[in-house]
Amino acid sequence: MELANEKKAWDSVKGMIEEAVIENLERESVWSTVVRAYSDQFKKDFEGFLASRVVELVRGGVLLLLLPATREGVPSANYPTGFLFSYLGQTLMDLANEGVVEKAKIDGFNLPIYVPSVGEMRKMIEKNGCFTIEKMELTVPRGKTSIGCSEGNDRRSSDREPLDAEPRSTKVAIADLGCSVGPNTFFTVQNLIEAVQKKWPSETLLEFQVFFNDHLGNDFNTLFSSLPLERRYHAAAVPGSFHGRLFPRSSITVAHSSYALQWLSKKPQGVHNEGRIHYSGAGTDVVKAYSDQYEKDLSCFMSARAEEIVKGGVLVVVMPGTPDGISHSDHPAGVLFNYFGYSLMELANEGVVDKDKIDKFNLPIYTPTMGEMKRVIENNGCFSIEKMELSKMDGPIDVAKLIMHMRAGMEGVFSAHFGDSVVDKMFAKMSDKAQDMSHFFESGYSKSTQLLVVLKRK
Ligand SMILES: C[S@@+](CC[C@H](N)C(=O)[O-])C[C@H]1O[C@@H](n2cnc3c(N)ncnc32)[C@H](O)[C@@H]1O
Repeated sequence: MELANEKKAWDSVKGMIEEAVIENLERESVWSTVVRAYSDQFKKDFEGFLASRVVELVRGGVLLLLLPATREGVPSANYPTGFLFSYLGQTLMDLANEGVVEKAKIDGFNLPIYVPSVGEMRKMIEKNGCFTIEKMELTVPRGKTSIGCSEGNDRRSSDREPLDAEPRSTKVAIADLGCSVGPNTFFTVQNLIEAVQKKWPSETLLEFQVFFNDHLGNDFNTLFSSLPLERRYHAAAVPGSFHGRLFPRSSITVAHSSYALQWLSKKPQGVHNEGRIHYSGAGTDVVKAYSDQYEKDLSCFMSARAEEIVKGGVLVVVMPGTPDGISHSDHPAGVLFNYFGYSLMELANEGVVDKDKIDKFNLPIYTPTMGEMKRVIENNGCFSIEKMELSKMDGPIDVAKLIMHMRAGMEGVFSAHFGDSVVDKMFAKMSDKAQDMSHFFESGYSKSTQLLVVLKRK
């Protein structure tokens, strides 16, 4: 009887052990399928990464990679990233048990991060065949002692020379200076690429690198998330002011700037401009201060471009310009800035803003004459003038739309000085005056105020 009981108990223990083993085996097999799927995806991604770098890196160039990795045979759960992700998983499972999140949602989520082993990395680099491994080692982050597997000074040269088979290509670097957030810059770049392609013999393989430049505060995220999908160029952002150097020496083939070079680097110095925000309608001392600042800024711009643009390269500038002999108040920009001034002065009379604040504000925008542009370009001496002309803008003008457009581009400058609430009121007043303004605009736009300058680097 005792024996029979013992056997029964033993059978049930055996059953439990078998169940546990099977469960464990099943878990192991799911686990290894998951690991393999991750590893396969990593291989695909890393292969693509290496193949792209092979095309881009010069012969003898260096590729330095720093990433989390594991030692062969050590389970990834023993590494910090493994710990972390296990804990994150457990935390989510706790939330599932508390009914906060569905378990199916957790099952359907896989963090797209893979920590390869040194051996996996080595195999893939060797398979690519275009790199020698100069150093490959596992170290502990932040300079702690190594956890082994140092494979330094590992020089394995490949006997394949795949770059020899590469087609000869010409790299064309295009820069759009003051690109803003698009889409205008994309049309411009497309036109420039088409123009360059027409010029080059058709058998040359052209590769385009486009640098989109604007101030650091520009919304580059918006710009890059709307890049055309069908583009034929590699895109890069270059933040910073175009009044200084942006690129290495002799690295740019075509530089372009549209409706940006009218912005001064700062407001003109030592100006007392009572009741106005611009030189339009102001005295000659104010106009001179603006023109002096413009000359300084344009000289800096030209010096920087002279360093960066290759010999024979082209600089194209499109911007508002002022025809000789017209008064600044008759220029469309002048009309607009006078109205900004009137709107602010009305707000001063209503007690919304201090008049003193208006007197101290000077919009840092200047529209030069062709003579002023020519003088700076000739003083710089590094460019020949291929074309310089003033043309009429396409009409008719929708003033209400123009005010909205101006708001998008200028609101920041006004807000920084007057504050958001004053600026809201100022633009409301501007909208009320749209009808009134349109008559002055008609006459302003009948004049040639769009300046086109095409320069060639000597
Ligand atoms: C009116 S938008 C023109 C945008 C675009 N080029 C176009 O034609 O539609 C002027 C742009 O020039 C940029 N800009 C002004 N001064 C600049 C500077 N010193 N350096 C770089 N960008 C500048 C402004 O931030 C703004 O995005």
